Amino acid sequence: PAPGWTSTTDVVVVGSGVAGLTVALNVRKAGLRAMVVTKAMLDDGSTRWAQGGIAAALGEGDTPEQHLADTLVAGAGLCDEAAVRTLVTEGPDAVRHLIATGAAFDLDAEGEILLTREGGHHRRRIAHAGGDATGAEISRALVSAVRSDPGLELIEHALVLDLLTDADGHAAGLTLHVMGEGQRDGVGAIRARAVVLATGGMGQIFSATTNPAVSTGDGVALALRAGAEVTDLEFVQFHPTVLWLGAEAEGQQPLVSEAVRGEGAHLVDADGVRFMVGQHELAELAPRDIVAKAITRRMQELGTEHMYLDGRHFGAEMWAERFPTILASCRSHGIDPVTELIPVAPAAHYASGGVRTDLLGRTTVPGLYACGEVACTGVHGANRLASNSLLEGLVFAERIAADLTARHRAGQLPERSVDVAGARAAKAVPLLAPEARADIQHLMSTGAGVLRSAASMAATTAGLARLTADEKSADPAVESWEATNLHSVATALVAAAAQREETRGCHWREDFPDRDDAVWLRHIISPVRGSGNGDADL
Ligand code: SIN
Repeated sequence: PAPGWTSTTDVVVVGSGVAGLTVALNVRKAGLRAMVVTKAMLDDGSTRWAQGGIAAALGEGDTPEQHLADTLVAGAGLCDEAAVRTLVTEGPDAVRHLIATGAAFDLDAEGEILLTREGGHHRRRIAHAGGDATGAEISRALVSAVRSDPGLELIEHALVLDLLTDADGHAAGLTLHVMGEGQRDGVGAIRARAVVLATGGMGQIFSATTNPAVSTGDGVALALRAGAEVTDLEFVQFHPTVLWLGAEAEGQQPLVSEAVRGEGAHLVDADGVRFMVGQHELAELAPRDIVAKAITRRMQELGTEHMYLDGRHFGAEMWAERFPTILASCRSHGIDPVTELIPVAPAAHYASGGVRTDLLGRTTVPGLYACGEVACTGVHGANRLASNSLLEGLVFAERIAADLTARHRAGQLPERSVDVAGARAAKAVPLLAPEARADIQHLMSTGAGVLRSAASMAATTAGLARLTADEKSADPAVESWEATNLHSVATALVAAAAQREETRGCHWREDFPDRDDAVWLRHIISPVRGSGNGDADL
């Protein structure tokens, strides 16, 4: 159907995590009108689930150079060094800006920010809030700030469909489906001078993930339909320590933060052996891909479905003060970390790739920006360093807002002319039935999850292709669009993962177990158009 209603603003931001809300708050400071549209409630995205914290060189003796070095090592040769330098240099001030907005971080007796460690960091560098509720506090502070700006329009329960462009191909707004009442109900359109995608991740393409149900890759799917470059999709990070709730557990799984290992918990197998010792100089605090692989290998060797995390030596008081969220979550599942080992296994956690941007968050479509997990700024390379994601969302959101402000002041952000009445609600992709979601998740976890091979991915590709033939849906409901987006993103991801015939960072190929710098020190651009095409050198 054609859009049934239209609104107009200057900057429309899609998504309400740390990235989206920071862009919106900052463009408002320049007097621009802004609208935030979000698929569920304002705080339903991934930000509020973040536990460990936000990494920045804030501690005595730490420097952005050291943060840069750790980030580059984790990224396994594919980070864009200029992007990382921007992240680590602007990071400390970005955290201070967050504090000025109202986020309360944990402080020591002298009022200095308390810092912990996580995998891949050689220093205590992770600021945290509420012990292990960092994302919840950041989300609370940002949501409170946007709610107190009456000039910032918010539309909740709004699933973005497609980008609108003007005759020059410049972003001019978007179409969306709102489950609301009154004037903005059903399919509508928002005209804007610029569009910012901050839709978060795509963890829901897998059966078990730390991501909330809303993380269905909507931004990447939109970008693929709009012809924006998407890159590094094969690099999906599996968090090593997710509470293991049984082989059949599906959907969002409880995270057990790396900060638990950062404070000294050990990874052990069923015999109590600390299997990370001797595998890496940082043992349990090796970069995340190394720990996830070691856990998976150990599970294969022993024929078990999980390993254990041992934090019994922390004692009851430390668990309650430092990790109240994890303590409550474990206890709600019948495990008491004060006296018992915590069963853990890897689960899908973070998309290191996404919509390709430059250092100002600009995608390859003029006027379309991307920020946060949906984006690929180049800071994560083949494997994101722990707690760099909230930081990336903050730093690059500030940069996008600065670019929009500069363009506005220079008169370079004009209104765009777009034929809204003639716009289709959604580009011509076959809509899948909502039931396809579980099939996609199963296919992806089985064939393109933590361990991949040409044969496993061929089976997944064939299964995904069968779904488009079998599961067409006539009903354009939000759940159908979500299933369709999951399918588009999964298909693009498997194509990229099949093309990368090496093991690097969080992309692990059983059939190509080595890193191959001679051939693969480059990025794959999606959609992959066939062997040898669609990739870009660094
Ligand atoms: C965690 O707390 O372990 C998650 C941190 C992250 O994903 O960066």
